[in-house]
Amino acid sequence: MRGMNVTETGSETGSGSDELIFFVNGKKIVERNADPEMTLLTYLRRKLGLTGTKLGCAEGGCGACTVMLSRYQTHTQQLLHFAVNACLAPVCSLHLVAVTTVEGIGSVARKLHPVQERIARAHGSQCGFCTPGIVMSMYALLRNNATPKMADVEEAFHGNLCRCTGYRPILEGFKTFTVEGGCCGGEGRKNGCCMASEKSSEEDADEASPLFNAADFAPFDPTQEVIFPPELMSLTKAQKSASLRFRGDRAVWLQPDSLDEFLRLKWEHPDARVVVGNTEVGIEVKFKNMVYPVILAPAFIPELNTVTHTEGGIVFGAACTLSHMGAVLKQAVATLPPHQTEVFLAVLEQLRWFAGLQIRNVAAVGGNIMTASPISDLNPVFMAAGCKLTLIDKDGSRVVQMDDAFFTGYRRTILRPQEVLLSIEIPYSKKTQFVSAFKQSPRREDDISTVTTAMSVTFTPQTDIVEDLRLSYGGMAPTTVLAKKTASRLLGRRWGEELLQVACSSLAEEMTLDPSVPGGMVTYRRTLTLSLFYKFYLTVLQKLREQGVNVEEVGSDCLSATEIYHQETPSSVQVYQVVPKERSQEDMVGRPMMHLSALKQATGEAVYCDDIPLYENELYLALVTSTKAHANILSIDTSAAECLPGVVCCVFADDIPGSNATGPIEYDETVFAHHQVCFLFLSDQSGDSVRFMTMLMMFPSCLQVTCVGHIIGAVVADTQLHAQRAAKAVRIQYEELQPIITIQEAIAAQSFYQPIRTIEMGDLEAGFKQADHILEGEMHIGGQEHFYLETNITLAVPQEEDGEMELFVSTQSATKTQSLVAKALGVPANRVVVRVKRMGGGFGGKESRTTILSTVVAVAANKLKRPVRCMLDRDEDMLITGGRHPFYGKYKVGFLNSGKVVALDVSYYSNTGNSMDLSLSVLERALFHMENSYSIANVRGRGFLCRTNLTSNTAFRGFGGPQGMLVAENWIADVAQILGRPAEEVRRLNLYVEGESTPYNQILHQFTLDRCWDECLSRSRYQERRAAIDLYNRKNRWTKRGLAIVPTKFGISFTAVFLNQAGALVHIYTDGSVLLTHGGTEMGQGLHTKMIQVASRVLGIPCSKIHISETSTNTVPNTSATAASASSDLNGAAVQKACEILVKRLEPYKTKNPKGSWEDWVIAAYFDRVNLSANGFYKTPDLGYDFDTNSGRAFNYFSYGVACSEVEIDCLTGAHKNLSTTIVMDVGHSLNPAIDIGQVEGAFMQGLGLFTLEELHYSPQGVLLTRGPGSYKIPAFGDIPTQLTVSLLRDAPNDKAIFASKAVGEPPLFLAASVFFAIKDAISAARAESGISGPFRLDSPASAERIRNACSDQFTKLCPPAEPGTFTPWSVQV
Ligand SMILES: Cc1cc2nc3c(=O)[nH]c(=O)nc-3n(C[C@H](O)[C@H](O)[C@H](O)COP(=O)(O)OP(=O)(O)OC[C@H]3O[C@@H](n4cnc5c(N)ncnc54)[C@H](O)[C@@H]3O)c2cc1C
Ligand code: FES
Ligand code: FES
Repeated sequence: MRGMNVTETGSETGSGSDELIFFVNGKKIVERNADPEMTLLTYLRRKLGLTGTKLGCAEGGCGACTVMLSRYQTHTQQLLHFAVNACLAPVCSLHLVAVTTVEGIGSVARKLHPVQERIARAHGSQCGFCTPGIVMSMYALLRNNATPKMADVEEAFHGNLCRCTGYRPILEGFKTFTVEGGCCGGEGRKNGCCMASEKSSEEDADEASPLFNAADFAPFDPTQEVIFPPELMSLTKAQKSASLRFRGDRAVWLQPDSLDEFLRLKWEHPDARVVVGNTEVGIEVKFKNMVYPVILAPAFIPELNTVTHTEGGIVFGAACTLSHMGAVLKQAVATLPPHQTEVFLAVLEQLRWFAGLQIRNVAAVGGNIMTASPISDLNPVFMAAGCKLTLIDKDGSRVVQMDDAFFTGYRRTILRPQEVLLSIEIPYSKKTQFVSAFKQSPRREDDISTVTTAMSVTFTPQTDIVEDLRLSYGGMAPTTVLAKKTASRLLGRRWGEELLQVACSSLAEEMTLDPSVPGGMVTYRRTLTLSLFYKFYLTVLQKLREQGVNVEEVGSDCLSATEIYHQETPSSVQVYQVVPKERSQEDMVGRPMMHLSALKQATGEAVYCDDIPLYENELYLALVTSTKAHANILSIDTSAAECLPGVVCCVFADDIPGSNATGPIEYDETVFAHHQVCFLFLSDQSGDSVRFMTMLMMFPSCLQVTCVGHIIGAVVADTQLHAQRAAKAVRIQYEELQPIITIQEAIAAQSFYQPIRTIEMGDLEAGFKQADHILEGEMHIGGQEHFYLETNITLAVPQEEDGEMELFVSTQSATKTQSLVAKALGVPANRVVVRVKRMGGGFGGKESRTTILSTVVAVAANKLKRPVRCMLDRDEDMLITGGRHPFYGKYKVGFLNSGKVVALDVSYYSNTGNSMDLSLSVLERALFHMENSYSIANVRGRGFLCRTNLTSNTAFRGFGGPQGMLVAENWIADVAQILGRPAEEVRRLNLYVEGESTPYNQILHQFTLDRCWDECLSRSRYQERRAAIDLYNRKNRWTKRGLAIVPTKFGISFTAVFLNQAGALVHIYTDGSVLLTHGGTEMGQGLHTKMIQVASRVLGIPCSKIHISETSTNTVPNTSATAASASSDLNGAAVQKACEILVKRLEPYKTKNPKGSWEDWVIAAYFDRVNLSANGFYKTPDLGYDFDTNSGRAFNYFSYGVACSEVEIDCLTGAHKNLSTTIVMDVGHSLNPAIDIGQVEGAFMQGLGLFTLEELHYSPQGVLLTRGPGSYKIPAFGDIPTQLTVSLLRDAPNDKAIFASKAVGEPPLFLAASVFFAIKDAISAARAESGISGPFRLDSPASAERIRNACSDQFTKLCPPAEPGTFTPWSVQV
């Protein structure tokens, strides 16, 4: 061990490194060149080849990289196991640590760990990219607690995200480890689920609800776990000094082991960065390009880790982790008198929703204080409680009180450069002191605060007279602040109504925000300061009364405002029709078979694109993209980049041997920004008809960018780090041009792509004349980021001969990638092979936009004749690949007194972005779904594609349908509200019936929506629920419940007719094994599993004999993208045809040897020289809609579904809870109920994100501000409805698709609109309390901000919004 004070160079930052010793999965690693800037994740994946641990975000926000660390603590002689994010853990912090990764706990070949087995068999792994991280979170929990409760399981997943499953099956699988066991755990469930509704009739006897049998699971035996490496134990015990030094290219890591040494080093290196958990510094280095040449790691200094109980409170060393602090405080709360622990409880309340467990396990309390973030969740409590901080340097220490003088500015404190924080004392509370803390964030779990606050009041004993008051807020200024003026105004006052009035008006005056403030949400944030005070007021009132002080009683209707949010353990039911008993056990069609890759995904053995080992001479590419939305490029300077280590070359448009023009349908994009003729586009709108004049004005050729994120060039280097650093060093000068960012700006400028689409039926004028009422309204629906857990990646490998190139791509569209790469390289398509093994999620985001990366990488690989790889970072992916189109809908509806809608005139405007991509088809689908499920005699729908300077938007599950239908549901809800009729009655009245025609003249056959509706009403106990909700709402002023039932009808087919085709290739080998290939790609949706089920039935052999290896352009050519929910229909039919051909060829051998086996027939056919390979081809018949004549079939058939949801909103904060959802979905005769229910639940949760949570923020200049899980929130575990029932409609006919099944990928997504309208229902109840009735505008998503602002009351009135146009907002609605 090297001492810190003497080195070869005389300084700690001299050359030379210590050995870093750690263990990975029991194997000893001795690293002599540990790089302080390298994370554990990079080390595992790149240096050790352990690719089971995934990279999803690199910012601690998704949990895909979760591993378990174990450390032997010599002072307690105990082993500590804890889950961490490998993407933030510096490898240098791991000296004498045991790392366990997903590979270390089990494998398919060796033995599965029960955690791996249960998540797979419970259908909790779809694309599988999140699965290793989830497995490791659960594993770490079980290592600490072999008999957890469900609440522990839920807490363990606060830091994990899954975009596919909807979380329910994961929780259900892991419930079997818990003491509750639930209906499916413990003893294992038998022939039914205890949560399932009672079978009501004979008819239901063939319905089942268990999707797995827990009795089949291997038992969990905690004594069989991998042991802590004995050698590591000995090394730890023998360790005398923990002082270490590791030196990298740009930074040195100094790990002192004594306080004196730490202080001396800080004295000598005042600019050194102190790092403990690295959860803040890691983000700065990765995303803010910060370089810290000297890193001081004090995690092992005893004084910084000590916890001391003093007379005044508990003192925590600054390096104590938040998990440790939480455990100590919980213990104190359990043992101390309650009056002493008010502050502790407030800290614990903040910790409950502080990040995820992986972060809390490493993040230090000192790190939170010293980051001095204005939205720190702990600093408000520390400030309100008057905590004492001990600051120390080489010359001594000083104690300061945490108040607003401690923070001197944004992320600045009073600490001198040489000083560090030694400890914090959290005081006991006094007998007459009450403390509360509140955190409000867009999402409950793992989210940063919008406003966070702590409040402490002390009364004169036995009275309600305020003696001391501290109100501390985060999120209201560049630092945590105290509302000092308000506090002083309230001193000496009695805790009553008058004080409340003064407090509110004073807070409204004191807690102001500039209307342009970063983070926006100005009205909401200001209102929260009042609303949260009101919660505190009520809470204290209650506590005073409990102490016998004479204060007014809190009305029973206000009590719910004082309740602390808690998530109830979810319960669920899944119902599907079982296959008839007489069916052969080998016929797997219709059975809940597990996703065939699930086990490999759970063990980390499933190979994703970036898991492919590095080629020997492989290079890495990083993109150079525009930082301006609309600009001419004046110059590009690559000189600085080219001098950086590892850089091989830069790539620009001139390096393209073929064509730079690209795009999935129209070639209106470029691979790299290129010199182009600039033109001016003028248009003019008059009356109802839109007339365009285009005037081309020739300008000198200019290099133009048309969105932030527009690809300008790329840098290729030896490693990812080097390429990314160099890409950032490319200097670009712009001449900015006026951008168009929002739909409203595009409308004002008449900036539209052509054509403008119209669907019209009936006589609109007559319809409006017939109407008793006419309603006009509008709504905006925000966009959505796909957030597939695996970002876009391409690995391009040039071959030696004939310009061939092989590409490994995470794409839904192998053929499109092939053709666009060939076009860019200027070679025929037959030289390019695109291979897709599996994707870590797609959702439409990898349908067309993947090609923009693939072509760039291919051009670079071609230029250098070396393999080149690029996996986008999460922020890059969000910036450059586009998402769901934001929509603006404007409507005029005519309806009768009965509620019957007789006329609809609706216009849709989509924010298309800077290229067409698939936007026309998306818009068309919105129009095809403009009436959702309602029969309207007179309709006109028009669609406009707004050309803006945003990244081109693209396909996303639902493909415009959800936007089209949400507007429809909005007006129908408004119609009901205007008439004062129950919304479900008005909806039911307008529902289609069998044989009716859509506005595009398609007759509805085999119409099952009415059956879905009735079943949903009864399964959800709708009327009973409604009555209970009305009663609840009468009894509660500040929380309201809402209910809505919403139908969906989703057209199945690609609307571009030619895409409705598919091919399959089936080989039978002489040993009887079958290799199946088809045109579809696997992105987690279980397509390959279903295709094997289909082939198994047709060939009459077990699924185990059939294998699918990958999708590739050299096996099945000219494939359509795996999209439009139609892949099982199309590829299933192609597989069926190919298999039927083979069955026919084998028939003679079967007839000849009827008792023989499959293998006998195959080998006999082979010796008889029979071709044992066949391809199948399928095209959907009778399709072809024509917009000009409004004729021809647009869709092959429709999928139907209905959902009923109940929510509860907190009117004071805008938070909401999803209490219950019941879904009835028609998936025809399900090919695989487990996969189909997984699709229903996954789609529903994605829709829930779309309509209630996920918000993309753009600056007025078109810069995307939300570029990662830290700022963009997809639903988490806690967002699933507490009760979730999914029922697949029984006896559902479909004569249009394979084995009478139906498409399921997209249709259920819209059902989450039931949550949106339940929220709207609840808001209506809240508004009624303030005397406001009638329809109101609520845009999507129904975020906490929108909910709170819509619940107008005395608090919102005190915080009116600034006059629009008088300021530049932080973000705009695009
Ligand atoms: C995914 C994620 C979620 C998060 N969620 C939340 C949240 O919900 N609420 C919230 O408030 N924060 C949150 N954070 C922020 C962060 O986790 C906390 O601020 C954490 O407490 C920082 O601790 P650390 O040990 O990791 O700090 P580090 O990154 O190691 O250090 C942070 C800063 O503190 C300084 N520092 C650390 N110790 C000392 C010391 N003893 N003396 C002087 N300076 C010191 C460092 O020099 C550095 O500037 C989140 C972060 C991530 C990545
Ligand atoms: S990759 Fe580490 S948390 Fe997302
Ligand atoms: S299975 Fe969880 S992200 Fe795909």
